[in-house]
Amino acid sequence: MKRIKIVGGNKLSGTINISGAKNSAVALIPAAILSDEEVVIENVPNISDIDALEEILLYLNADVKRENGKVRINSSGIVNKEIPETIAKKLRASYYFMSSLLGKYKYVEMYFPGGCSIGARPIDQTLKGYRALGAKVVEENDKFTISADELIGTTVYLDMPSVGATVNIMLTAVRAKGETIIENAAKEPEIVNVAMLLNSMGAKITGAGTSSIHIEGVNYLSKGYCEVIPDRIEAGTYIIAGALVGDKLKINNIIPEHVNSLLDKLFEMGCYLEITDNSVIISQAKNGLPVNVKTMGYPGFPTDLQQPLTTLLTQLNGKSSLEETIYENRFQNVKYLVDMGASIVIDNKKIYVTGPSNLVGKEVTATDLRAGACLVLAGLKADGETIIDNVEHVLRGYENIIGKLSDVGAKIELEEYN
Ligand code: EPU
Repeated sequence: MKRIKIVGGNKLSGTINISGAKNSAVALIPAAILSDEEVVIENVPNISDIDALEEILLYLNADVKRENGKVRINSSGIVNKEIPETIAKKLRASYYFMSSLLGKYKYVEMYFPGGCSIGARPIDQTLKGYRALGAKVVEENDKFTISADELIGTTVYLDMPSVGATVNIMLTAVRAKGETIIENAAKEPEIVNVAMLLNSMGAKITGAGTSSIHIEGVNYLSKGYCEVIPDRIEAGTYIIAGALVGDKLKINNIIPEHVNSLLDKLFEMGCYLEITDNSVIISQAKNGLPVNVKTMGYPGFPTDLQQPLTTLLTQLNGKSSLEETIYENRFQNVKYLVDMGASIVIDNKKIYVTGPSNLVGKEVTATDLRAGACLVLAGLKADGETIIDNVEHVLRGYENIIGKLSDVGAKIELEEYN
């Protein structure tokens, strides 16, 4: 197993370059198999979630070349077979293959996907989409067998703007007959990125990024190309690091608009920020004012930054509140922050954080990806040494986190343990 050791209290300055977005890349790669020609995706982050998807591609007999963030996928020799449960369970995004295979072959067998344990995470909206398009879904022992004589375009109303369901229905509908409309679609930038790739392959998708997406089905998808957008959650995590311990820390290669909800809260705290077309420069917030935050779908405050933000709330002057509206179990970081000296009370879906607290290094555990990021931030601020166990979760989503933080002055290292 792996753990991260941090000696806290160092100021961070210099530049952190942001990688391609995990949550885009994990959808773009499965999207590529809808074509039988070469699809090229650039700016793919080097993280273990991408390794898992590569493993699935190779298992399905796709031809994959991955070098320096460029992935070339040729799916002409692909075989539509059941992905082993152990691989499917490695990550949430494995179920995007379920939709691509269904869209391409009108038949798929797959296990319930994995992903961070942060709530129930049902997939009923995706299944509702499959059924609306004419597929029959049989569920037995955690495994789905989905088949259709024909997939026929229709209107699907999502009960909630689910990112996964929106992407899944897009992938299933691009090669269906006629027009599919997704109403109450998720509006995340990652969905726009997926539509861009599919359109470059010859799909006819409009409205991605709004709550009404129109997909005119096509018979054939050809070669395609796209670049993965910058990771707004990685960017947000390092921007928060800047507000905690930064001295003109530059977070570079970002789309500032994608982190507006975070920047807005930082302004409200009284942080000083310099924003350019593709970067943010940020220094430690002195005497920051408390804020109230509620997680929402894009463009609201992202649930994925809720846990990293909690570390910053411990340093503000007064009582902040944070309400989690997307997941039922995304406060597993709190007990470790409290161990480190934070004053936090959980009240159902809300936490109240009273600051400023003096954080002290402790041995803590990354229960999930963003909880791990929260604890890395706490370690950067804390006095003494913080050891974060179980950081495989963190490595799933943050490319070269050790190198990026070391380069700007953090004392941080990765080590193996038993
Ligand atoms: N939901 C349902 N039924 C469904 C789908 C979703 O009830 O069929 C509920 C979920 O239980 C949850 C909410 O709707 O309460 C939102 O779920 P959504 O489907 O939007 O999430 P997701 O697609 O599973 C993606 C990201 C998550 C991110 C969410 C929300 C990927 C691979 N994952 O998950 O990222 O939190 O959107 O923005 O894109 C992370 O990166 O740490 C992470 C968890």
